[in-house]
Amino acid sequence: MSVDFVILAAGNSSRMHSTTPKFFHTIAGKPVIRYIIDAVHECNPKNVIVVTREEIRNSEHFKDVTVAIQRTPLGTADAVRCALDELSSEYTIILCGDMPLISAEHLMNLANTSSDNALIAMTLPPEFQHMPYGRIVLSNGKFEKIVEYKNASNAERSISLANTGVYKIKTDLLKKYIPKIEKNAVSGEFYLTDIFKFIKDVEVIQSPEYEAFHGINTMQDLAKAEAFVQNKLRRKFMASGVKLIAPKTVYFSHDTLIENEVVIEPNVIIGNNVKIGSGSRIYAFSHIQDCAIDRNVEIGPFARIRGNSSFAEGSAIGNFVEVKGSKFGAKTKAKHLAYIGDATIGEHTNIGAGTITCNYDGVAKHKTTIGNNVFVGSNSTLIAPITIEDNSIIGAGSTLNENVPAQALAIARQRQINFPQKAINIWAKKRKTR
Ligand code: UD1
Ligand code: CA
Repeated sequence: MSVDFVILAAGNSSRMHSTTPKFFHTIAGKPVIRYIIDAVHECNPKNVIVVTREEIRNSEHFKDVTVAIQRTPLGTADAVRCALDELSSEYTIILCGDMPLISAEHLMNLANTSSDNALIAMTLPPEFQHMPYGRIVLSNGKFEKIVEYKNASNAERSISLANTGVYKIKTDLLKKYIPKIEKNAVSGEFYLTDIFKFIKDVEVIQSPEYEAFHGINTMQDLAKAEAFVQNKLRRKFMASGVKLIAPKTVYFSHDTLIENEVVIEPNVIIGNNVKIGSGSRIYAFSHIQDCAIDRNVEIGPFARIRGNSSFAEGSAIGNFVEVKGSKFGAKTKAKHLAYIGDATIGEHTNIGAGTITCNYDGVAKHKTTIGNNVFVGSNSTLIAPITIEDNSIIGAGSTLNENVPAQALAIARQRQINFPQKAINIWAKKRKTR
């Protein structure tokens, strides 16, 4: 397609009151700017240019785009000016770097319109009528002008047709008119929307939806975008046969993969890089990230999983168990109050309540290896590096700092002493006479 895309991401995100630029804040674990770049790439354009600031030009998020630099954020028209030298296609599509829900479909529709110049307009639902979008003034159904919110009268602010900030403009017109735009007297910025003082023949593509064009200027806008994305993910998973008991309380990541027949109980948070196989159940209040959960696995309630962990078929993690960077073999279980870090555990092994892998010596992390059919008694402390071989048994309350061979029974604790009644009487008498 002979279209170049320009994404504007050089503003100073002042309304966010955050040291992180708004483009790098994440929604469902993915940075805002990557949603937009990915949607643009889906359109297979000739060139994708992101206009951004010098300090962030080397960000990994810009690895697959051309970067143009705007040194001082003087307004959206000035930002486009900084990209003009990179434009070589007949048409240019411009969009803001703060609208993560835009889809390739919307962009393709705009690219494919037969008009030379077009913009996408949205009708604001009542709850978004207060948002400071530019308003589109039509006369006899035809485009007349865009009034920026800051400059708009009360009557203009009550117009519900708003500018999404997505435009298709003939590149030679863009190159001709961008330098002619003057500084706005009220805000001191160069408004891209003022290009339509020169280009009057503009098709207004009215989109019936709002969500796709929701722009992020404040933390509240960001939270709204998160809510939109989470609702989309919840609908997607339920449509594919995942059972969510209280959908609104479950949070997913953009890359979560879940097979059908999985049940997710209320108040579960799923971070990046999680796969869950069919028949598994995630119990309430679990926080899981960076793990592969096979079929028929049980996790939680109140489980914490992280750091590239994996759980083979039929394994189980119970309440108040934290697992980090560990592999659980088939049917292996840790059902209560344990910390399992940097461990590889075979099949059919039982990890008793209160077991701790001591993986950190204050300087480095060490590995724990536990074989098949091992029984680790409750409250065991396994000081890594350590290997516990197949079919062994660890007596409850043991603190192990040496390997355990196969088939062995290892006990590493004080012997119990039972004093006879006579001894107790003597002791009691002494105490009274003191
Ligand atoms: C802009 C539009 C408004 C539209 C809204 C849609 C203008 C003047 N206004 O307003 O009509 O309804 O988007 O969300 O275009 N940027 C730069 N350099 C700058 C200034 C901004 O790169 O000097 C970038 C920002 O980082 C942002 C985008 O341009 O990604 C839009 O700027 P922003 O300040 O968010 O404009 P809005 O007030 O939202
Ligand atoms: Ca904006």
